[in-house]
Amino acid sequence: MNKKQLEKRMDFFALVIVVSLISLAYYYARPRRYPKKLPPGPYPFPIVGNMFQLGERPNRSITKLAKTYGPLMSLRFGSLLTVVVSSPEMAREVLQKYDHVFSSRFVADAWEAFDHHTISVAFLPVGDRWRRMRKVFREVMLSTPRLDGSQDVRQKMIKSLYDYLHECSKSGKVMNIGEAAFITTINLTSVTMFSGEVVNFDVNATTKFKEIFMSLTSVSGKPNLSDYFPLLKPFDVQGLRHKMEFHFGQLLGMFDGIINERLKEMRRSPGSSKKNDMLDALLEFSEDKENELSMNDVKHLLLDLFVAGSDTTSSTTEWAVTELLLHPDKLAKAKQELKTVVGEKRQVLETDIPNLPYLDAVIKETYRLHPVGPFLIPRRIEEDAEVNGCFIPKGTQIFVNVWSIHRDKKIWPNPEAFEPERFLSSNIDYKGQDFELLPFGSGRRVCPGIPLAHRMLHMMVGTFIHQFDWKFEPGVTREQVDITEKFGLAMHKAIPLKAIPIKT
Ligand code: HEM
Repeated sequence: MNKKQLEKRMDFFALVIVVSLISLAYYYARPRRYPKKLPPGPYPFPIVGNMFQLGERPNRSITKLAKTYGPLMSLRFGSLLTVVVSSPEMAREVLQKYDHVFSSRFVADAWEAFDHHTISVAFLPVGDRWRRMRKVFREVMLSTPRLDGSQDVRQKMIKSLYDYLHECSKSGKVMNIGEAAFITTINLTSVTMFSGEVVNFDVNATTKFKEIFMSLTSVSGKPNLSDYFPLLKPFDVQGLRHKMEFHFGQLLGMFDGIINERLKEMRRSPGSSKKNDMLDALLEFSEDKENELSMNDVKHLLLDLFVAGSDTTSSTTEWAVTELLLHPDKLAKAKQELKTVVGEKRQVLETDIPNLPYLDAVIKETYRLHPVGPFLIPRRIEEDAEVNGCFIPKGTQIFVNVWSIHRDKKIWPNPEAFEPERFLSSNIDYKGQDFELLPFGSGRRVCPGIPLAHRMLHMMVGTFIHQFDWKFEPGVTREQVDITEKFGLAMHKAIPLKAIPIKT
């Protein structure tokens, strides 16, 4: 057979494979018959279903569809049936009443890199292993005594942020607020964890850690055909799992280095090398065989901590500062409170947080208007269920549409406005008991990072405004500041906020 004939035959085989895959995909994506009716939803097109109705901002397009189809709605992405929950009443059913059925995660293909989903507290199904990992988060890493004990090292990182703001104010430098918040969040997390910072306020801040994170965010924000057509999974057609593997490898390699260094120090001078940070506590905990925590588990716990905690906290900080700069009257109130409680001379401390109710209201209002997880972390139903008279089959992906609940005018008067005052006279909290406000989710999967996020957020937002006024970058007026969002790992501002601090 000559080269041309061979090429022709190869083309034919490729064509056969593509046609077979599409036929199989169609077979699996075809509407099924169920014993009872599914929640209502828009008509799913053959093969693709409702994929093309999502657009660039699924939080907005899905909320619009829910206005037509109601608080329990079916969508189909390829062969993946998804049910969207868009009211506090339905959220209570799913997250509280039937919590046991709705508590597993839908694992996107990219997160299977390095088998992370078989170790990660964020993806393990509810069971003994997941319970053990949650316990490590709650009791070993983020307990109140542990966090109180690491206040001083975090305070140093907050001082670095203050110094950077001061430097920019002296030179009139335009700052990228989200970037400064990101660097500070990474450093607050790493000093809490290892007693050492990992990122500097470099000229261009292009440190390795930041680069890895930016790429990781971009990979995890992309729609992946492998999730919609599981048949394509082995082929990883968009290469997203491969890319994730690369970034996870870089992060796990860094953690490996830090852990090995600590173990060496411990062996060199047992006892005297104790830092009493989270890593010491984790290593001590893992030494006890009964706790069944391997070194690989420790590395993946660190991965969870950084991946789940960094982008979420820094994006929320950027949204809070953006809203304050856009609302000078609210900014003035928050500054006045800081001046009264903290004074002019010293910096904000974690112990000040309970005495700053207006700042707390600003942060709650930011959670409401800009939830960084507009659909929480998607869940997956483990057995057939019936909710509100509708059938939800096993394996369905569940989105809790927090974005829509937070902007529902039946719950929140004037929902598009930034009004921290609404929380001053309200008992609504964000820890998962009030289904009108769910920035951290609810039920047994509620975010375990709330205690650390609470401290980091108040300290960062407080420091950005306490001793500084702000002006927008040259050529930009308040009216021109863009507040559209970009869907991804955490929902960011699409266009970063840039402004110049002015020392007061
Ligand atoms: C403003 C900051 C944060 C926000 C808005 C946020 C939000 C969330 C949300 C919405 C979930 C899913 C909850 C659900 O499905 O019901 C979640 C889960 C999680 N968060 Fe956070 N988070 C933040 C900060 C943190 C921090 C600082 C950490 C780590 C210290 C963290 C660690 C986790 C983990 C490990 C999970 C998975 C829990 C599980 O599946 O059992 N988060 N977070």
